[in-house]
Amino acid sequence: MKISIIGGGSAYTPGLIEGLLKIRDEVPFTELCLMDIDGEKLGIVGEIVRKMAARDLPQVRVSTTVDRIEAIAGSAFILCQIRVGGLAGRVLDEKIPLKYGVIGQETVGPGGFAMALRTLPEMYSIARDIKEHAPEAWLINYSNPSGMVAAMLAKYTDIKAVSICDVPIGVQHFIANLLKVPRHKVKLDYVGLNHLGWFRRIFVDGRDIMPQIREMAGTVDVMAMLPSDDEKTAEESAMIVRIFNKLGIIPSPYLQYYYLGRECLERQMQAEKTRGEVVQGIEKELLAHFAEVARGDDIRLWKSRGGQWHSELMVSVLSAIYNDKSEEFVVNVLNNGAVPGMADDACVEIPCLVDKRGVRPLQVERPDTDMLGLMQLVAAYEKLTVEAAMEQSYAKALLALNLNPLVPSLEVAEKILDDYLEAHGGLIVLKK
Ligand code: G6P
Ligand code: MN
Repeated sequence: MKISIIGGGSAYTPGLIEGLLKIRDEVPFTELCLMDIDGEKLGIVGEIVRKMAARDLPQVRVSTTVDRIEAIAGSAFILCQIRVGGLAGRVLDEKIPLKYGVIGQETVGPGGFAMALRTLPEMYSIARDIKEHAPEAWLINYSNPSGMVAAMLAKYTDIKAVSICDVPIGVQHFIANLLKVPRHKVKLDYVGLNHLGWFRRIFVDGRDIMPQIREMAGTVDVMAMLPSDDEKTAEESAMIVRIFNKLGIIPSPYLQYYYLGRECLERQMQAEKTRGEVVQGIEKELLAHFAEVARGDDIRLWKSRGGQWHSELMVSVLSAIYNDKSEEFVVNVLNNGAVPGMADDACVEIPCLVDKRGVRPLQVERPDTDMLGLMQLVAAYEKLTVEAAMEQSYAKALLALNLNPLVPSLEVAEKILDDYLEAHGGLIVLKK
């Protein structure tokens, strides 16, 4: 049984492999294939992964390739974490809107829009290769923007696919730690789109504990309990608490760009580097670390890109499919009536049951008017963006970007779009 990773040269890969090595009893894979277009990164990451596998599971064969079809062919599961245009592309996505006084972010606002325009055609081409060379395989995607990737795969292809994000499982872990219960005991009433959602209620043993959390927020120092491993996480935690105090429910960290947008913009304008530039530094350091550990005898990593919940979610979803577990996860699916008030073809992020037949959305309660309004608006923007990317339509792209709530006007949308087209060269193709 072969598992392949497209974008295998990513600094996230060793963390994912740790997760995969742990579930070998549940999912008896025999081969891991890492594919990447960047041969240099693939060489470094491939080497540490080979050593990790040799340490824990010497019977598993590890291979690396720059040939996507070679990776896909014969795979039972294909994990996908691509970043079209690399981190340099992300930095452009972040910087261009800032020129016009608009938030520059990886997946939200104009940045997420540009990322979608680059990523969706590439994901479509990957799906076509899967259809041809491994039609029975499952694609587990965590390439961003994960919601729009899910929509595109569901609307334009018929491969077996699931698209995930680590935000909901992160909150589930936070609550589990807080209450000292296993993660599986924590049930989320989460509703939204990818990177735009609300944890309305949280159930532990069938009891809604949100009132308890509200009470705690008023009496104890919640900030001290929230994760603050680095500057980004600490900042996010602070913003979450402030929005929680206003709304009384837990927001996705990405909602800060909608609720506290002015402040986010000011922070970005003052920052010396964009997040993408910071991550470029982190990645460089990590690759050096991987290479150093791989040269020694003690194959233990003490630095990682984080993303431990991504790894756990990905292997848990994989195992739920393989072992037909019908387990509940928050993932991205076409709505089809699950969220009352949302269009059937909107891609929503909600609790779903996952088994070998795929992803079945669970019915959720109608979101309050304020949430529903924002979801509908952003879902309309996403729908147009997906169509623009797939039809290569400049006109639709412009309408989409103008509709995004973080973009103030059509003139600004046009300037940002034209700058993106120039900066990204052949990676964004739109016809006028
Ligand atoms: C979270 C999101 C991911 C996103 C990542 C960015 O994990 O769920 O979708 O890619 O943050 O983190 P970074 O360290 O690259 O800024
Ligand atoms: Mn995500």
